[in-house]
Amino acid sequence: MNDRGNITWHHTTITKKDRLLLNGHKSCVLWFTGLSGSGKSTLANAVDHMLFQESYRSYVLDGDNIRHGLNGDLSFLPEDRKENIRRIGEVAKLFVDSGQIVCTAFISPFLEDRELVRNMFEPGEFIEIYVNCPIFVCEDRDPKGLYKKARKGEIPEFTGVSSPYEAPSHPEIIIDSHKMTIEQSVDKVIGYLKDKKIL
Ligand code: ADX
Repeated sequence: MNDRGNITWHHTTITKKDRLLLNGHKSCVLWFTGLSGSGKSTLANAVDHMLFQESYRSYVLDGDNIRHGLNGDLSFLPEDRKENIRRIGEVAKLFVDSGQIVCTAFISPFLEDRELVRNMFEPGEFIEIYVNCPIFVCEDRDPKGLYKKARKGEIPEFTGVSSPYEAPSHPEIIIDSHKMTIEQSVDKVIGYLKDKKIL
């Protein structure tokens, strides 16, 4: 039983707008979604690196890392994945409120869960990036050896093998990671941010 009825929202003295003026750029979430091994973390880190070099405020939230701490209590069953994504959405919202560009790298396989996060943000703040890569390429890369284990039945509910991945229908950006270099992919994301006057 929660007691939300007794909790009041406190408005902060320094607002998001104040922080944007100080930073000289807008804040947003770059939500990378795709299969395990599609290149989400690599791209999120490459974009973050580029932004950092150009003195923009940015940060990476990564599935494997967050599941060690904040979300260490969650499994890969659909209801836990939903909670994983909901919590990340809330954390990303705090980062956006703090004036930063937050790059999130989570499989986030369910359309409904990603829409729930999109709806937490103001229009234009949630930028969905579909890291599109055929499963056979991800499986061939298999950087953590997880597909091999999943095919042997050693990992239940493995995305793309025994659990579905629902591709975005209208992502803001598509990266065909099996056809594009990392540099081309980073350029595409940075180009989008400039077009939308976020940078
Ligand atoms: S999500 O589906 O809830 O968004 P998340 O991005 O946090 O997933 O974590 C995915 C990472 O956990 C994968 O990159 C992989 O290393 C690892 N993993 C472990 N078990 C599974 C599984 N059953 N399905 C997918 N990824 C898994």
